[in-house]
Amino acid sequence: MSAEKVTVSIIKADVGSVVGHARPHPSMLDAARNVLKDAQKAGTIEDFYVTRVGDDINLYMTHYKGENNKDVHGAAWECFQQATKIAKKMKLYAAGQDILTDAFSGNVKGAGPGSAEMTFEERGSEPLLFFMADKTEPSAYSLPLTRIFMDPFTTTGLVIDKRAKKGFDFEIQDVMANKKVVMSAPEESWSILSLLGDTSRYAIKRIISRSGIGPAAVVSTDKLNMTAGRYVGKDDPVCICRCQSGLPSVGEYTQPFINTTMLVAGWMRGSHIGAFYPCSPEDSDPTYYDGPPRICCLGFQLNNGKLQGLEPYGAKNGEHIPVDFFGTSTFDNARRCAIKASKFMRSQGPFVPSILGAEEMEYTSRPDVLKELTNRFVSLDEKPKKAAAKKAPAKKAPAKKKKAVEVE
Ligand code: F6R
Ligand code: MG
Ligand code: MG
Repeated sequence: MSAEKVTVSIIKADVGSVVGHARPHPSMLDAARNVLKDAQKAGTIEDFYVTRVGDDINLYMTHYKGENNKDVHGAAWECFQQATKIAKKMKLYAAGQDILTDAFSGNVKGAGPGSAEMTFEERGSEPLLFFMADKTEPSAYSLPLTRIFMDPFTTTGLVIDKRAKKGFDFEIQDVMANKKVVMSAPEESWSILSLLGDTSRYAIKRIISRSGIGPAAVVSTDKLNMTAGRYVGKDDPVCICRCQSGLPSVGEYTQPFINTTMLVAGWMRGSHIGAFYPCSPEDSDPTYYDGPPRICCLGFQLNNGKLQGLEPYGAKNGEHIPVDFFGTSTFDNARRCAIKASKFMRSQGPFVPSILGAEEMEYTSRPDVLKELTNRFVSLDEKPKKAAAKKAPAKKAPAKKKKAVEVE
């Protein structure tokens, strides 16, 4: 009989913040903790940790109930309801923003919050990384994940670890066509990149080991879709990764965030390009032009379905201390590079590539501008209308021809 599979879930939402779109109030996080304490006592979840990136509350939960479970999602929904109540009472900004429906209908999909979940047999030792990004979209993970899982010049493990060398399957979503496809690396690497390079259309949902270890990474892509012909997807995405022993090591996951300054879509009004700023959750307030887009990386070991960080063994009530990978001085230079690149992008003002292409802008005034100008636009091919013939003055009798005056 195979061992019971554990599910690791992150469910996240922005339900209001202090000041503007900066950070949730600590009381909102406390309210979420209280709900999850009860869910843990009730046996719905094994363990949990509540944190945030920028203005998004992130709930990490472990359980044996499988993905899209009504009780687990219901507990998360209740966290966001309670946090929204506080945000409304305090008149915080955008209170309840990501709560799109009045009634919970079984899971959070389509209801506003985002989720990433993976189910697997817990190994003898199970290191996990939790990436959380704010002010960007799920396809922001495509560049780092392809570097980590497909590029042997980035991840030497792909060459020298015999299980990693077997490669990985990538589940890729096509946002425009609402379809998905599974492609395999290394065989189809260049074809995978030919899709994923278009971050406005394709995003990685899941990466699975081809040496039988199971899922390696999963990204929240809940809001990726075309709504009324418009792309909606700036979901401040999370990504859960399993590490080591045939999967990329912890250091192979973190390395691309130092080696590359990555430009991603989102930032101010979900309509700009800025550089990923790797930081601690504590340093993740969007203080520069509502950004720049920030990414945090917290690590836990999994121990029989429970999270183990730096806290004493057996900690209760979600009182965990994760390892904060991007909060270290090692990433100081990466942060400086991100600010430098972001400032450079800002120098272009409201011109592409500082702003996104028209179809990707979350905010735009263009339809109204065009409407107002409907009658003023003329075709470049239209022949100029002949000016109405002016009434010719009555012809005078021709004057006697004068001798031309020569002009010097
Ligand atoms: C981006 C974000 C902010 C807001 C911006 C305008 O995800 O949350 O950059 O888009 O501050 O917000 P409103 O329209 O609420 O004034
Ligand atoms: Mg927000
Ligand atoms: Mg946010």
